[in-house]
Amino acid sequence: MENNKSEKSQEYINGSQLTVNRFYSYGKQTIEQDDIDAVIEVLKGDWLTQGPFVRQFEEDLASKFNAKNVSAVANGTAGLHLIGLALGWTKDDIILTTPITFLASANCILYTGATPDFVDIDPASYTIDIHKLEQKILEYQTKNQNVKAVVSVDFAGLPCDWKGLRNLADKYSFQLVNDNCHALGAEIDGDIGYACKYADIVNMSFHPVKHITTGEGGAILTNSKELDSRVKILRTHGMVKENFQNLHPIPNTQNPEPYTKPPMWYYEMHELGYNYRITDFQSALGSSQLKKIDRFVGRRNEIADYYNKAFKNDARFIIPKVNENVRHSYHLYPLQIKFDELKINKIEFFEKMRESNIGLQVHYIPIHTQPYYKNNFGFNEGDFPLAEEFYKNEVSIPIYPLLENEDLEYIVKTIKHLTK
Ligand SMILES: Cc1ncc(COP(=O)(O)O)c(C=O)c1O
Repeated sequence: MENNKSEKSQEYINGSQLTVNRFYSYGKQTIEQDDIDAVIEVLKGDWLTQGPFVRQFEEDLASKFNAKNVSAVANGTAGLHLIGLALGWTKDDIILTTPITFLASANCILYTGATPDFVDIDPASYTIDIHKLEQKILEYQTKNQNVKAVVSVDFAGLPCDWKGLRNLADKYSFQLVNDNCHALGAEIDGDIGYACKYADIVNMSFHPVKHITTGEGGAILTNSKELDSRVKILRTHGMVKENFQNLHPIPNTQNPEPYTKPPMWYYEMHELGYNYRITDFQSALGSSQLKKIDRFVGRRNEIADYYNKAFKNDARFIIPKVNENVRHSYHLYPLQIKFDELKINKIEFFEKMRESNIGLQVHYIPIHTQPYYKNNFGFNEGDFPLAEEFYKNEVSIPIYPLLENEDLEYIVKTIKHLTK
């Protein structure tokens, strides 16, 4: 991802002169002096990994998001893998997710050998359509198959219909996962801890484009002690330091008896795990960033308000819709542009925006249309038409706390000029 360069330059759009930063990407981290200081302090200490800052970061996340248990991990993808393992997904399990998400939300299903399937999006929220979800569960039931789990994604930062999802999970007994990577700081009914309230287990990512960053990094939040213990064992090679199964004879002694009290070095491996740990210096950065999340999400909301005002009531655009009882946290600002009705197509639009130093992204190419999913699971274009329609129109325009209003003015003017 390209970084903003600090120098300013003059640009002319539509005859008006604006001072702009040289390059805008769709997302970017905000690192301040106290973040740098926090990392340096750890680098000067004794522990770079598996020290006290990981535990501290986990406690900070638990208290911010009202979760009983938190495990910080190497990245959000590792987190999803661990969630699938902890929930016991296996071959022949059917797990559903949305086609409009990052690959990792669906790939975690494949890591466990389970079978992925998708449910189309709701055209207003761009998140999983819970009526279509129920239909799909019933279709499976007519074939005597049960859905084991649903991985639902708070796309762009907008919470799904979690009350509806919880009801369905209770009615049809499936495991409910919130891939919450886009939605740190979002709220339902004023509750920033909604993710653990409704889902059985929750995944976060701290990639630099997300609300807070640790470089690479992620966390798993759950109110289940049992799931959390499994995650903690699996994130570090499947090793345990208690509840031993098999005490070996002491090496280099004459004593052939198993010990009754294990020696200090003793550990056992009970199942196949991974090294999915996060480091202490990343965790220190995470705790420092977390203190500012309300400010960061606040600025993201101000930017979204600016864009909403600029693009609403204009037939060329569709802006994100947000229900009254939720707070969007705007990891992304997904603007739909009706390219079918314009002279410019999406490819040219991207190129022209790039020439204007604005780097856009598209979130996402629907996963079921990826060659791997088509070739291995028989999905095809046309399977989830609303997701495909959304993909045709969607453009993620720059949104991150460092953007100033003059930057937004330049971005809006450029978009309107190119779509004339
Ligand atoms: C919805 C979603 N899930 C999972 C991930 C994976 O997170 P990470 O990049 O930390 O592995 C991402 C990352 O972009 C994401 O957007």
